[in-house]
Amino acid sequence: MTKQDTTDKLWGGRFTEATDAFVERFTASVDFDRRMYHHDIRGSIAHATMLAKVGVLTEEERDQIINGLREIEAEIEAGAFEWSVKLEDVHMNIEARLTQKIGITGKKLHTGRSRNDQVATDIRLYLRDEVDVIAADLLRLIAALADLAEREADAIMPGFTHLQTAQPVTFGHHMLAWAEMLKRDFSRLLDCRERFNVSPLGAAALAGTTYPIDRQYTSELLGFNGPAENSLDAVSDRDFAIEFCSFASLLMMHLSRFSEELVLWTSAQFNFINLPDRFCTGSSIMPQKKNPDVPELIRGKSGRVSGHLISLLMLMKSQPLAYNKDNQEDKEPLFDAIDTVKGCLKAYGDMMPAVSVNRDSMAESARRGFSTATDLADYLVRKGLPFRDAHEVVGKAVALGVSSGRDLSEMSLEELRQFSMDIDADVFEVLTLEGSVNARNHIGGTAPEQVRAAVVRTREWLKRNTEM
Ligand code: ARG
Repeated sequence: MTKQDTTDKLWGGRFTEATDAFVERFTASVDFDRRMYHHDIRGSIAHATMLAKVGVLTEEERDQIINGLREIEAEIEAGAFEWSVKLEDVHMNIEARLTQKIGITGKKLHTGRSRNDQVATDIRLYLRDEVDVIAADLLRLIAALADLAEREADAIMPGFTHLQTAQPVTFGHHMLAWAEMLKRDFSRLLDCRERFNVSPLGAAALAGTTYPIDRQYTSELLGFNGPAENSLDAVSDRDFAIEFCSFASLLMMHLSRFSEELVLWTSAQFNFINLPDRFCTGSSIMPQKKNPDVPELIRGKSGRVSGHLISLLMLMKSQPLAYNKDNQEDKEPLFDAIDTVKGCLKAYGDMMPAVSVNRDSMAESARRGFSTATDLADYLVRKGLPFRDAHEVVGKAVALGVSSGRDLSEMSLEELRQFSMDIDADVFEVLTLEGSVNARNHIGGTAPEQVRAAVVRTREWLKRNTEM
């Protein structure tokens, strides 16, 4: 092996033999980290700009580097860039191309920098842009749910506990329950963004650099809140990837729960809602089938995102400071979590406005399940019965309903009075589904009036968070 064979590596100086071909492929990340090319170039431009400001590069060198990097970006975008596994990762591919294009000045770009602070910077810049897209997608879905809640504020369905009919609720109320979950997800996302938006640049390999760098300046150029405080921490910290995946796992858990309900509700047995054909698929053997594939798939995808969270926690758990090559394993889980969340939010944002509601079928289902039994008990309490006795009375009336196949509202006054003489003709007002939901008229309750007020508050929340 001659020295000649080793010189294709940017770090080849001390090596006496070429990298094993398998090892080269095994250790390379370019196939997946090249998606950060824009952020890598952006970080390099900021670094070169700073180096010129502090006098490490001349203005001419800076301009040569910046122009070269811009041309490389255009080459990549035109599909004309040749990515090489030999050059390991996105960083060295771009740097090598720069030197190829502008010669010796290209070799000065890496002054006062290491791939360790470079990659930590790139991932943060990349993630920040994706977080902003995901935040907008979340707002769009929350807005769609608010619209649906307004449209269906007085559509009555059975509310469930233990998946057994419990009490009537409005469909709008149910949609706003989903919106609340997403509002929490949104706040977790912004919280994570705020914490990771610091600049590792200048931490160099681990200890900082001997050049008179201006970390505040690069931080400002890149839109960070400030330089990361400690160089060792800056190059080794991947908390942000874990926090993002934690946000993403919670969001996907919510979407999975929504999906489970949509799947149930579209079944012939429930028949509460219809999904538009364009979000469903058929069966190759059973001609009658219209399968809710999109919600099912999203329910399934929640698993892989939770898996990524665990992968990242395990990746980090025993790492000593500072950078370790293990960290290269941060990208695939993080990127897949980002892609999955974006896909699922797009599907939901497109699908929810097109959901139609079968009001008759939902109301019929609520009636079949004695969903106003609690209302009858509350009625008897208002007439002076202790709640436990009222519960007993209503239980007996329900037993008659079960044996005779009727709802409480379908019994005659005489029949009801055999259970309690406190029952009068006004009982039928509380036994109707409308009476039941309208009676729950307080903040957070299911009454249509409350749902409309909650829609207004949700839209105010959306407005505040869109302006940010
Ligand atoms: N490809 C590497 C990664 O993703 C870049 C940093 C490599 N640094 C190093 N000292 N080998 O983490």
